[in-house]
Amino acid sequence: MPRLLLVSNRLPVTVKVEKDSVAVVLSSGGLATGLRRPHERSGGLWIGWPGDVSRLSETQRTQVEARLAEERCVPIHLSPSEVSRYYEGYSNRVLWPLCHYMLERVPRQDRDWEVYRKVNERFADLVARHYQPGDIIWVHDYQLMLVPGLLRQRLPEARIGYFHHIPFPSSEIFRTLPRREALLKGLLGADLIGFHTVSYVRHFSGSLLRQLGLDTDVDRIMWEGRQVRVGAFPMGIDTEAFESLAKEPSVLEEVASLRRSAEGQRILLGIDRLDYTKGIPRRLLAVQRLLEREPTWRGRLRFIQVAVPSRTQVSEYATYREQVNELVGRINGQYGTTQNVPVHYLYRSFNEKQLTGLYRAADVMLVTPVRDGMNLVAKEFCAARPDDDGVLVLSEFAGAADELHRAVSVNPYDVEKAADAIEEALEMGEPERRERMRALRAQVKAHDVHWWVSSFLGRLQGLPSVSVRKFQG
Ligand code: G6P
Repeated sequence: MPRLLLVSNRLPVTVKVEKDSVAVVLSSGGLATGLRRPHERSGGLWIGWPGDVSRLSETQRTQVEARLAEERCVPIHLSPSEVSRYYEGYSNRVLWPLCHYMLERVPRQDRDWEVYRKVNERFADLVARHYQPGDIIWVHDYQLMLVPGLLRQRLPEARIGYFHHIPFPSSEIFRTLPRREALLKGLLGADLIGFHTVSYVRHFSGSLLRQLGLDTDVDRIMWEGRQVRVGAFPMGIDTEAFESLAKEPSVLEEVASLRRSAEGQRILLGIDRLDYTKGIPRRLLAVQRLLEREPTWRGRLRFIQVAVPSRTQVSEYATYREQVNELVGRINGQYGTTQNVPVHYLYRSFNEKQLTGLYRAADVMLVTPVRDGMNLVAKEFCAARPDDDGVLVLSEFAGAADELHRAVSVNPYDVEKAADAIEEALEMGEPERRERMRALRAQVKAHDVHWWVSSFLGRLQGLPSVSVRKFQG
């Protein structure tokens, strides 16, 4: 196996500075959690941003560098202005909402593009500096869409893969981007471009045709005398790890204690980064609707919603947080009693063990994003249920819906139907619950993160070298 250079905006660990102390903690989000173990196994390097280290003393910086080196992580440090314009600005104020079909959130001015381009260049320079002939380079996600092209200029013969972890929108949406051509050309520097679903591949091919006049021949595009391949590679999770955590005695004790505290109640669970794509307000409204129309559920539901703080410096996220706070307050104010409240809202991070305990204790898991590239939480829930119980309610707008057919499918925009789906899940008989969960688990086991890594990298490695492909073209 050649050495693997993983390249992503965020490293799998993030430096957190709090007053006088500094900690290196695991990063949240599907990309970091999903690739952490493949990185541990591969023995290669991971190049990315460790978070803001500008306030660290010299000694603290040295400690952090040593810790990162232990994890084979190569940090790229971003200045406050780069963080605000490349990361918060272009990546998270423009590309993120655009790829999630939220055009109204995209700012009118395009002022952060230059910094996005420059930071992508800095990434490409750093990767080129660490590259050794024979390495495989695997670039990840929308923050780095120009990197494959920039690397191709620096390392014409390198084997480069790119994976897009969020939706690739319809060409009707993508064409609104002033920088649409540059971004597409950036991706075409790769040898293999991967997406989670066949629809995203189709949307990407549609944009290539519309913007660059390029035809995709099955899975092959000719670009600047090279063949570029595209494909759907639905990402999985470390199923075995979640399953074994779910069997640990300490986790089972937590589960028992949570269940005891909710005696006489059914547990609904939501776990998300606090992001406006995750559909938390609509989910809350669906629960509220159920309580409103079916008084028998009042006092008998405990909806635990974990919201992991995310992108807190981006104003849209702060506004969203207020909206969620307000809704939780309203529902609890209306349906709470002196004994209990329907919504248990937890705004903080949880470790894998705590999450597994929650998954295992839940009766119904609500994964109802309004748009989501894949959603690995849905898969983690299934992996954490070796008891073959629990019902998954899953949005049809999550990439995971393409695979997890035995979930209860829901359109999160239809609050009334979402309330129906929650009720159906709550009332589902045991035989059906088990039959569905067994099917879901079989899928999540067969297509885990190791399968995903090896199918993407197997494909990338199996391609003829760049010079042979030029010749074939
Ligand atoms: C999503 C994206 C990742 C990103 C993660 C967390 O999963 O696809 O690229 O790392 O969210 O977001 P953050 O902005 O904190 O890195």
